[in-house]
Amino acid sequence: MSAQSQPDPRADASAVSDETLMASHAKLLGQQPDEKGRYRLMPLNLLFIFSGMIFFGGTYLGRFSGYFNPGVFNEYSTGTAVVAAAPLDPIVVGKKLYLTPGACVTCHQPNGAGLPGAFPPLVNSEWVTGSEERLIRVALHGLQGPIKVAGVDYNSAMPGFGQGTGFNWSDDKIAAVLTYIRQEWGNKAGPIAVEKVTAVRTKEGARSAAWTAADLEKLP
Ligand code: HEC
Repeated sequence: MSAQSQPDPRADASAVSDETLMASHAKLLGQQPDEKGRYRLMPLNLLFIFSGMIFFGGTYLGRFSGYFNPGVFNEYSTGTAVVAAAPLDPIVVGKKLYLTPGACVTCHQPNGAGLPGAFPPLVNSEWVTGSEERLIRVALHGLQGPIKVAGVDYNSAMPGFGQGTGFNWSDDKIAAVLTYIRQEWGNKAGPIAVEKVTAVRTKEGARSAAWTAADLEKLP
C-alpha cells in the first residue's frame, strides 16, 4: 500500500520538466506559421506538360486503339479474325457473291449445272471459260434470246449485275464472281482482272440493254 502512494522516482529523471515544456510551447505559439516556406503553387510549366501528355494519350488511343477490338490486332489470335483481316481472295469473295440469294446460284444452281430447259450450265460452258470480253458483258448487262451452251439450245433471259442494275455490283465484285465460276467445278480458266471489267464497262458507257448471243459472237 505504501509503495503506491510514493511518487514514481522515474518522474524526476524525465528529460523534460514541466517548466521547459511550457516554455517551449509559449515560444512556438508566438511564432507565425511558416507558410511561404512549405507551400508553393505548382509551376505553370508542369501544368502544361501534364495537360499535353493527357491530350496526346487520349488522341493516341482514340486513333490507334482499334476500339480495343481483339480482331484488329491480336498476336495470339488463331481464328476468324485473322482470316477476315487478310487480303481478300477473289475466289472466296466470288463464291460468296455467287451464293448470294437472288444472284447466280438461284438460276445456275450451287453445282453450276443450271436447270435443264431453263438455265444453262456454267460447268463446261465455252461462254464461261472462253472469251473474257463476252463473259464480262453477260455479267455486267445481262443476256437474252436464243443461245447454245454445251450443245444445248436455251432461249430465256438473265439480268445484269453491273452498276446501274438492281444489283449494282462494283467492278471488283464482277471480277471476283467471274474468276470464281472460271475456276470452280473443274473449270480451269484464268482469272478476270478488275481492270478488264473496268475497261469493258467504260467502253460500253451507259448501256443497260441485255446482250444477245448473236451480238456477243461478233466480239473478240
Ligand atoms: C434469273 C436467273 C439467272 C441469274 C440470277 C443468273 N443467270 Fe446467268 N443465265 C441465265 C439464263 C436464263 C441464261 C441464258 C440466257 C439466254 O437464254 O439468252 C444465262 C446465261 C449465263 C451465261 C452464259 C451461258 C452459260 O451458261 O455459260 C453465263 C456465263 C452466266 N449466265 C453467268 C451468270 C453469273 C456469273 C451470274 C451471277 C452473277 C448469273 N449468271 C446469274 C439465268 C440467270
